[in-house]
Amino acid sequence: METGVKETAFPVISEITGDVAVSHRSLLSVFSAMITNPLKVIPPEAFHEPLVVTRDGGKLRVFITDPALIHEALTGNAAVLGKGEDTKRGLGPALGEGLLTADGAHWKWQRQSVAQGFRHEKLLAFLPAMIAAAERTRARWLETAPGAELDIGHEMMHTTFDIIVETMMSGQGEIDVEAVERNITRYLEGSGWNFAMGLLKAPAWLPFPGRAGITGSAGYLRSTLSRVVAERRHASEPRQDLLGLLLSAVDPESGRRMSDEQVVDNLLTFVMAGHETTALGLAWTFHLLAGNPEIEARAVAEIEAVTSGTGTLLPDQVARLVYTRQVFQEAMRLYPPAAIIPRVALADFQLGRHTIPAGAAIYVPIYAVHRHASLWEEPERFDPDRFDPERAKGRHRYAYMPFGAGPRTCIGSAFAMLEAVAILAVLLKGFSLRHIDRRGPRPKLHITLRPDRRLRMTAVQRRSSVLRLDGVTKNRKDASEQ
Ligand code: HEM
Repeated sequence: METGVKETAFPVISEITGDVAVSHRSLLSVFSAMITNPLKVIPPEAFHEPLVVTRDGGKLRVFITDPALIHEALTGNAAVLGKGEDTKRGLGPALGEGLLTADGAHWKWQRQSVAQGFRHEKLLAFLPAMIAAAERTRARWLETAPGAELDIGHEMMHTTFDIIVETMMSGQGEIDVEAVERNITRYLEGSGWNFAMGLLKAPAWLPFPGRAGITGSAGYLRSTLSRVVAERRHASEPRQDLLGLLLSAVDPESGRRMSDEQVVDNLLTFVMAGHETTALGLAWTFHLLAGNPEIEARAVAEIEAVTSGTGTLLPDQVARLVYTRQVFQEAMRLYPPAAIIPRVALADFQLGRHTIPAGAAIYVPIYAVHRHASLWEEPERFDPDRFDPERAKGRHRYAYMPFGAGPRTCIGSAFAMLEAVAILAVLLKGFSLRHIDRRGPRPKLHITLRPDRRLRMTAVQRRSSVLRLDGVTKNRKDASEQ
């Protein structure tokens, strides 16, 4: 058979069906999944097979769910897997060629430039700011009428945005949080069409629904952060935050520094990648806890025990919140905020006993890996004890990968875990969140995994915290009356 691929000792994947599940579908069905809910692009076989191949419109797509093969692809073959034109088309208007979208040498020096900002001791120093942001959210909730409706997704976005601006830009600039959040959502919601147009190889100028929103939102976000960058360029004192690192970074090969535009690429990358994902993970966690009161009670008991005697959460207590951390890990198993990792094969490469031809689209569908029938017992069940070290012992490292894997693994994973546990501890200590709607939300992929509609909840103050928080409110009132 003529494959257009050079002969190797290994069978070319498009020729074989033996141990590869082949799923047939039309270009139209993929196109329609892209614009309605790209989660549907994952073939159903990926939830129980190790490797699934589909072809649509002549395009070969390879879905890898076997942990050993994922390791081989994302780590062993990282150099021949690029981010691909579709990712660049979808994210490029906002993120340019920043850390998330760049490839090769341009990616490498950007990653090296910011790596020191994510060292363990640096991250621990961020904990007070993380706790303070969670406390501001708790204070907002205290001021709402009992039983008032909260959009929990929005609340979490607000909290994590607060943290990213405080820690990465030293709180610099008068940024309109609501407008930034609105524009990020509008941008991501238009992304499905943008990817679908890429699928049809439509020229970038061709109109499509939501295109004006994408352009407008990208413009708003970039101009907002351009102002922050310009202000910092003119500031007399350099600062040692992420923005400071970007401004002083030097490419070791060319000796170049980043232009303002490149600094904005990266700052926006960190704002988008660094707050939206954690916020969604937290929103899904509150959703799951509301439906599992016994798990919530166990987490609250741990938080009470760890913080007992101090009233409030202290930075050095966060590491002791082991079960609370497991709750967040399990929520990200069921609802991984970055649900699919896409790549494009830049050259033929070997995967297990097969050769994947150059040009194939490669997907690691984290959502399917995390619910895979052969990797997880009762995959649909919310069970934080799966992450008990004893139970997790024999599990393949790549069976669970909410932060990706290999050299492109999430640079902010430890940051995200710290802030998520701190936020959960502060808010669960004070409140229990209850659903308003009977029908649960469904996951919908807009680059990140969002609930298909607003997660409306009420925050009921815990009896155990009423006295303490009443004290906080009273003190605040006394202070404001003075
Ligand atoms: C629960 C929260 C988070 C999740 C689930 C998450 C997930 C991911 C995943 C899966 C990737 C790899 C994408 C790929 O291989 O194509 C990634 C990359 C990245 N993440 Fe995160 N992330 C989270 C939080 C954060 C935070 C807090 C930051 C920054 C403060 C951050 C910044 C980044 C950046 C810059 C990249 C690109 C890294 C590179 O390509 O070198 N993320 N993230």
